[in-house]
Amino acid sequence: MMLNGKTAVVTGGSRGIGLAIAKALLDAGAKVMITGRNQETLDKAAAELGVGASGFASDASNEADVQALADHAESLFGGVDILVNNAGINPYYKRAEHTELAEWQHIIDVNLTGVFLCTRAFGQQMLARGNGSIINITSVAAHTGLTRSAAYCAAKAGVEAMAKSLTKDWAARGVRVNNVAPGYVKTDLTAGLAANDTLRATIEARTPMARLAEPREMAGAVVFLASDAASYMSGATVAVDGGWIAT
Ligand SMILES: NC(=O)c1ccc[n+]([C@@H]2O[C@H](COP(=O)([O-])OP(=O)(O)OC[C@H]3O[C@@H](n4cnc5c(N)ncnc54)[C@H](OP(=O)(O)O)[C@@H]3O)[C@@H](O)[C@H]2O)c1
Repeated sequence: MMLNGKTAVVTGGSRGIGLAIAKALLDAGAKVMITGRNQETLDKAAAELGVGASGFASDASNEADVQALADHAESLFGGVDILVNNAGINPYYKRAEHTELAEWQHIIDVNLTGVFLCTRAFGQQMLARGNGSIINITSVAAHTGLTRSAAYCAAKAGVEAMAKSLTKDWAARGVRVNNVAPGYVKTDLTAGLAANDTLRATIEARTPMARLAEPREMAGAVVFLASDAASYMSGATVAVDGGWIAT
């Protein structure tokens, strides 16, 4: 599962799961560009990651930003082998009947349209070279649903369906598209839930492994899917969820 000589872009790589994935890809031998919306934060994270890491500010939901990212990565690396669509948000925790259209749209823009925009921009480059691996960070939300998260669940399920469609279009042309579906992971995204004793206990009770994951526990599956060890895989979802989906 070594990635020596490979190049990777990890969206939302400045912290949390994306940062852990970037570190694992670097450890496996790849050069890695992380993205997010703040250049200063990215420069700091890239410096901490060390040799082979760089950061480029790009809002995944903004078409011009994504094209600028793809152009920059292409000129820096001379071709991107691995795209990890990790950037994601879930800022509203409310039932659908109380959800504003703008709130729905905000989540769809980043978590679904953002994945499409990045996949299209880097997919065009990968198809031209006849080689590439795209990995989407989805969620157990796509499979079992989560309360007060209709847009989030719809977006994540949409991304997994997109990977199946892209597999029909791209697999024979050398570009593989797979998903990693995490369960609950200790990051800023879940800090509010984890700090609430009742909510955290509910999550732990629902999870067969009875705990939240560390971000680094998501990274191994991504390295595997990025590597030649997964050369016959496309359209698949690897659940890294402490058993959540199985039960
Ligand atoms: N944590 C969990 O329990 C969990 C479970 C299942 C799935 N996931 C998924 O895993 C992924 C990472 O989540 P996380 O928990 O690591 O979240 P996080 O700690 O909040 O980090 C999110 C990352 O995405 C970036 N980001 C946010 N909006 C962006 C945008 N519009 N364009 C580009 N970058 C953006 C953030 O940087 P800036 O804010 O600086 O832009 C940050 O680097 C998400 O797709 C999430 O849905 C997480």
